[in-house]
Amino acid sequence: MAMTPMTPARFRFAAFELQLGQRLLLREGRLLPVTSRAFDVLAVLAARAGELVSKEELLAAVWPGLVVEENNIQVQISQLRKLIGAASIATVSGRGYRLTLPCTGDNDAGAVPPAPASVPRQPALPLPPALYGRDEDLSDLDEMVRSRRLVSVLGTSGVGKTALAAAAARRALPRFTDGAAWVDVGTALAPADVVAAIAAALHLATDTPAADVVAHLAARRLLLVLDNADRVSAATAALAATLLAHAPRLHLLVTTQVRLNLLEESVYRLAALAVPTAGTPLAAARTFGALAMLEARVVALDHLFALDEDNIAAAIGLCRKLDGLPLALELAAARVPGLGLRTVLAHLNDGLGLLSGGSAGAAPRHRSLQAALEWSYALLAPEEQALYRELAALPPWFGPDQLGVGPNRALRRLDKLAALVDRSLVVFDGGRAEPYALTETGRLFASAKRRQAGSTDRRKKAGASAGFRYD
Ligand SMILES: Nc1ncnc2c1ncn2[C@@H]1O[C@H](COP(=O)(O)OP(=O)(O)OP(=O)(O)O)[C@@H](O)[C@H]1O
Ligand SMILES: [Mg+2]
Repeated sequence: MAMTPMTPARFRFAAFELQLGQRLLLREGRLLPVTSRAFDVLAVLAARAGELVSKEELLAAVWPGLVVEENNIQVQISQLRKLIGAASIATVSGRGYRLTLPCTGDNDAGAVPPAPASVPRQPALPLPPALYGRDEDLSDLDEMVRSRRLVSVLGTSGVGKTALAAAAARRALPRFTDGAAWVDVGTALAPADVVAAIAAALHLATDTPAADVVAHLAARRLLLVLDNADRVSAATAALAATLLAHAPRLHLLVTTQVRLNLLEESVYRLAALAVPTAGTPLAAARTFGALAMLEARVVALDHLFALDEDNIAAAIGLCRKLDGLPLALELAAARVPGLGLRTVLAHLNDGLGLLSGGSAGAAPRHRSLQAALEWSYALLAPEEQALYRELAALPPWFGPDQLGVGPNRALRRLDKLAALVDRSLVVFDGGRAEPYALTETGRLFASAKRRQAGSTDRRKKAGASAGFRYD
């Protein structure tokens, strides 16, 4: 617990003395067995003796930067009551606690008024949206987080990694006595930014050296969530390896489009939501995550909307066209009140333009499907980008022999193909003779990239023959 320079060296109340520097609790000079957290709680109550200290203030002061269950406070309070008497700490129903004993604070230079406890605000775990079609994913991921120390949720942009991780972190919270910390590293670009983001979430100074951040976490039983690690996967991996080695009770949950590539890493590959086949009757179709999400999102924007026998075919068509991708469903749903399901479906063939206008609070890459795909595309190496563009010209399902290369380059290209599968940009179905495919929206995007690259090549050639340089 952070103490300000004005904090007294000790508090005295009734027969008790709380020595802040040595972290001791004494009764008539005899040491009492107090745990570290209980000590911190008592120090906050003593600093504000006679006043109500709310549960939120206690959580923020004693578990700064962490998200913990409220019952952690009750555990510490009941331990303290055993040590200093049940009546010494009053419960203010539903709000917080108050030290009832008159208390003085003093330091070696003489008595000073007790300083208020510093109460940093604590970041909350993000509230997950109502999740559709993720019951099984949530319990599987929960089990992984329980048994493995480094779990990364892998999948394409907008598939719902952050949403699922938020739900999983909440579910796991009671198992972590030091709570959970949520760190969005999505805007980090360099290793130092990752450390600074973690330090900030833990309420440490943002220039805290990495070694001190690791030391801070060393003894904690904590769930540390590193969200959106795509662009800093190597830095995240390096830090994760150090944390795993030095903080034996820490568990890490990472969301990323790029694997960390650590031996200790357990990868949870998150697929898009389940989609009904064409012709599925209304009631059965609603049991599929994609359709349930689409319906809920449209109803949220237009309370008069209802799925019925007339529009179910278009709704299923839309879910299939969007491959059950939550972000795409969300963007499409926003268009339905103005245009209707059939028009939205019909215009998706023209390109991705309709899937834009995401909510103002969303990250820029989530304001349109084009932006989300551009983000994923930018994470690829140039050779992977080139292969991805070429795939747009192949039939919907294809095999490795259709990549059109001789045996000496085949291995290299298979490697790139596997990288695209890893990024969820290419679908792999081992049960099929031709096991690879692009998603429908991915194909539209890759085709556009292919056309763009083609016209750039032509301009370059024309420029070269006219004596211009383009690069
Ligand atoms: N199962 C779901 N039910 C309802 N909404 C969902 C579901 N999954 C995701 N969403 C919503 O879809 C949008 C995209 O999800 P999310 O941000 O979790 O994607 P992501 O995989 O983390 O993407 P990125 O890689 O770009 O960070 C969010 O608005 C989220 O609330
Ligand atoms: Mg995310």
